[in-house]
Amino acid sequence: MSTKQPIGLFDSGVGGLSILKEIHTLLPAEDMLYFADQAHVPYGSRSLEDVRMFSEEITRFLLAHGAKIIVLACNTASAASLHYLRAVFPDVRFIGMEPAIKPAAQRTKSGIVGVLATPATFQGELFASVVDRFADGVQVLQSTLPGLVERVEKGDVDSPQVEQILNRGLEPLIERGADTLVLGCTHFPFVLPMIEALSGERIEVIDPSPAIARRTQQVLREEQVRSSIEETGKIRYLTSGDLEPFKRTLERLAMPAGDVDQAIWKDLHLAPVAGGSQG
Ligand code: DGL
Repeated sequence: MSTKQPIGLFDSGVGGLSILKEIHTLLPAEDMLYFADQAHVPYGSRSLEDVRMFSEEITRFLLAHGAKIIVLACNTASAASLHYLRAVFPDVRFIGMEPAIKPAAQRTKSGIVGVLATPATFQGELFASVVDRFADGVQVLQSTLPGLVERVEKGDVDSPQVEQILNRGLEPLIERGADTLVLGCTHFPFVLPMIEALSGERIEVIDPSPAIARRTQQVLREEQVRSSIEETGKIRYLTSGDLEPFKRTLERLAMPAGDVDQAIWKDLHLAPVAGGSQG
């Protein structure tokens, strides 16, 4: 492992870019290789077995392209495969996501917290174990915001449709007394401004992405592989879906510039890619 290698990140689609943004802000000198599995998005309605299979192959792909550590920038992939990947790749450092129930339980005054996540995340053992360990008597309400992941995939974070999905999901939580809200899906930080506009002072939102960036910094330090270059690191964005819509979404989500390429699934394997085009 060397300091010059990129950080590898992946998600079902563009959600993990919310994590990439935070890491880029905290660690601007790091090169990053981001994989959006848009051929399979959304992960949230798939079986945990399928998501585990995709995660394993994407991990192999990112390692083959030089990733020094892997960030599972996806709650669903973490719920389905974090333990499994650590067992299959014992020499690789993985950073995964789990819903931030602990800080939510510490901050709530009403004793009721809402969690926004995908159906697959709620089904996974990881969610049950986080609630078991950290809810500490606090009531945890769930909401899946159907359709929101698909809107964010298009780069839509502020349309009337997004507002409608959020209203439908948030109002019942607030009515039932939730005063704290956990973003348990990496697509959702992109709609944080709208969540705040709709819920005002009524609910405090916990976005775990800055904490994931700090954890990444800590792991790079522990492994002694922090980038030592002076200039800004290079970012490469890869999608298993169509290239042009992906480029448009990167623009709409105001992502930092980088090379953009396609990596195609064939018989459950990803072919290596070379070169790159400026997006
Ligand atoms: N961004 C993802 C997550 O954090 C997955 C969304 C999806 O593909 O359903 O859970």
